[in-house]
Amino acid sequence: MLASDELINALNQQVGNEMGASMQYIQIASHFDRQSLTGLSRFFYAQSEEEREHAMKFVRFIVDADGALAIPEVPAPTPRFSSAREAVQAALDWEKEVTQQIYDLVGIARKENNLIAQRFLDWFVDEQFEEVTTMSEMLDVVERAGEDNLLAVEEFLAREGKAPPLPTSEN
Ligand SMILES: [Fe+2]
Ligand SMILES: [Fe+2]
Repeated sequence: MLASDELINALNQQVGNEMGASMQYIQIASHFDRQSLTGLSRFFYAQSEEEREHAMKFVRFIVDADGALAIPEVPAPTPRFSSAREAVQAALDWEKEVTQQIYDLVGIARKENNLIAQRFLDWFVDEQFEEVTTMSEMLDVVERAGEDNLLAVEEFLAREGKAPPLPTSEN
C-alpha cells in the first residue's frame, strides 16, 4: 500500500476541491464574458482548465497508489459577482484556501512518513505559490484600474500574454 486510507480519503476530497475551483472559475469567466471583457474571461477560462488538470493529477496519483477513487459531492460555485474586484477577490481567497488544503495534505503525508506522497505534493506547493501570486497581482491591477477602466486590465492581460484563446460555442 503506497498510501493510507486517511491519505486516500483526503486526496479524494482534494479532487472535489480542484473540480470545485474549476467550476468556480468558469462561473467567474462567464461574468466577464457577458460583458465582452475577453481578456479577463480568457484568463479565467484558462484557470478553470488548469484546475481540472490539478484534479486529474490527484486522480492519477490515487489510482497509481492503488487507492479507490471516490469523487465527493462538489458544492455549486458562487453564481454572481457585483464587480470585477469582488470576483477576483473571491478567486484570491479561494487560492489561499486551497494552499491551506495542500498544506494539510502535506501534514498527513509527513505524519505517515510517506515520502512518495510528499514529493508528489511538492509540485502543488510550488503551484499554489504561483497561483496566489498571480491572483494577488490580478487584484492589484483590477483595483488600480477601477471598475470604469477595465479595458486597462484587458491591455495588461494581452501585453503579459495571459489571455489564451477562448473556448468557442461553435463546432
Ligand atoms: Fe488547483
Ligand atoms: Fe488554483
